[in-house]
Amino acid sequence: MAESIQGMKRTCRCAEVTEEMIGQEVTLMGWVQKNRNKGGILFVDLRDRTGLIQLIFENTTIDAESLERASHIRSEYVLAVRGTVQKRAGAVNEKLATGTIEVAVSELRILSESETPPFPIEEDSKTKDELRLKYRTLDLRRPDLQRNLKMRSDVAYLTRQFFHNEGFYEIETPMLGKSTPEGARDYLVPSRVHPGSFYALPQSPQLFKQMLMVSGFDRYIQIARCFRDEDLRADRQPEFTQIDMELSFVDQEDVIDVNERYLQFLFKEVLDVDVQLPIPRMSWQEAMDRFGSDKPDLRFGMELVDVSDVVRGCEFAVFQNALAKKDGSVRGLNVKGKGGLGRKQIDKLVDFAKGCGAGGLAYIQLQPDGNVKSSFAKFMKEDEMQALIKAMKGEAGDLLLFAADRNKIVWNVLGALRLQFGEEMGLMDPKDFKFVWITEFPLLEWSDEENRYMAMHHPFTMPVEEDWPHVDEEPGSVRAKAYDIVLNGNEIGGGSVRIHQDDIQEKMFEVLGFTKEQAREQFSFLLQAFKYGVPPHAGLAYGLDRLVMLMAGADSIRDVIAFPKVKDASDLMTEAPAPVEAKQLEELGIAVADRKE
Ligand code: AMO
Ligand code: AMP
Repeated sequence: MAESIQGMKRTCRCAEVTEEMIGQEVTLMGWVQKNRNKGGILFVDLRDRTGLIQLIFENTTIDAESLERASHIRSEYVLAVRGTVQKRAGAVNEKLATGTIEVAVSELRILSESETPPFPIEEDSKTKDELRLKYRTLDLRRPDLQRNLKMRSDVAYLTRQFFHNEGFYEIETPMLGKSTPEGARDYLVPSRVHPGSFYALPQSPQLFKQMLMVSGFDRYIQIARCFRDEDLRADRQPEFTQIDMELSFVDQEDVIDVNERYLQFLFKEVLDVDVQLPIPRMSWQEAMDRFGSDKPDLRFGMELVDVSDVVRGCEFAVFQNALAKKDGSVRGLNVKGKGGLGRKQIDKLVDFAKGCGAGGLAYIQLQPDGNVKSSFAKFMKEDEMQALIKAMKGEAGDLLLFAADRNKIVWNVLGALRLQFGEEMGLMDPKDFKFVWITEFPLLEWSDEENRYMAMHHPFTMPVEEDWPHVDEEPGSVRAKAYDIVLNGNEIGGGSVRIHQDDIQEKMFEVLGFTKEQAREQFSFLLQAFKYGVPPHAGLAYGLDRLVMLMAGADSIRDVIAFPKVKDASDLMTEAPAPVEAKQLEELGIAVADRKE
């Protein structure tokens, strides 16, 4: 180590000091975690990114003047110390890697002082998020965040290493691009030299990476910053990072193959976890039917059961109305051991279902004492009830929940309830890593808002060949050559085979409701590039933040991003976004309209 401050050279980091070094002289630099004075002997815990070590200051090893200076040390002061490693005279600290040793200090430099920090620097902080984010530099000193960002650095490094060895080139694509429709809202950047014109920050490098394939680079990778102006959640930030790739002369299988080997390599290197290959696959339809989600959490069962056929003949209007709808169904969830829930808890579940868009939630409580309580038994014949319980494999103690509506709503409600119970019942071990590929997504998705079909992935995704001829009669039934990689109920990545044929792309734009002129205007550069020899190509992008969040066992992607934003997309530390000077706006030809909320 070469650091040299005021004539002192750091020899190692705090937690790198070991018992083998007893008797050796070391020079350490770091922050004061805590200090205490015991009858004239000072103890200081010194911290750096590796951890803590105990320093001891006593008059047998340090001069009186230094000892006096040491007595003024406070939390978060920055020190350089020279001293000798020795066995701890006092009690051993089992929780600390350096718990059996200490450093008897002979020389002290106070490199900088600190005000009293607004919160203690400690693992699993109890401090409110807002305060921590306002003082993020201090927050980042905490060991959990230090560990997370170290892991993120390792993941980025290993990713580059792996893909480099697989023949990928790392190529940067522009941050200042062109706004294109589809997807989320763009972040716009005004142009000074073209007043009234705007760049858009990239939502992903999608179009550029496809053009790199046309240019012949064959295999591309980029750890790319992406920007999306959408509502934030625990797994969403307005700016986030993708591990973005594209490959030429390949099909879905090739993309899956290289990525399975990548995930296996990464989890082994970083966590010493063995990912078994091949990673299981499930069609979108199967995932929805069994788990009510296109990102199923496979750490536990509790699968949905389609009981539409079982209840088809009954007179319960809620069920009948659902079955009469296009894409309507009645499905159930058997929650083991929850048959004895009280009225209040059941009401809460019904409210939760309503919050997910359902008209309500029907239930049968097979109470542990053998009693049966149900919200709809009065509408059913006894043998119909028995058939329903049988179809649900219901036993004493079970809670059977039913949602009846259009599939989309039914899946949404039961999928969310399944996760809620999975969480509550402790079935989601963060150290259990369950991957699954979701394939055969629908190509198109009806949007009530836009009153048209939208691309579920993006407009350049290849349809499944045998479905494509039916796109006019039944657009919703066409499957796409798209795939997502899901880990423990999180979509960590997604991609697709791209359209490389003019006629299919043109038809696709037509189905999406673009006129030829609109398509040309929005995507002319891509369509132009595609005229001059485009190889078949496919790709995928991971959300790096989500991947690291899961690997680190963090609850939010905020915990793996150094300087994240909060729910309203602001940065509490820098206070961005912020108004700018009138002069800046003037230069840009921008006038801000008065907008009352
Ligand atoms: P997609 O939109 O699925 O695909 O994005 C890829 C992955 O990026 C992550 N992600 C996010 N992470 C944090 N905050 C966000 N707001 C956010 N949005 C997305 C997810 C997601 O799986 N160009 C295509 C990829 C391709 O087809 O190659 C794309 O961007 O983990
Ligand atoms: P109601 O006839 O509206 O009183 O509903 C009878 C039962 O059916 C109540 O327990 C409701 O919560 C439930 N219910 C209402 N709508 C639905 C629905 N779409 N799916 C499942 N159960 C429902």
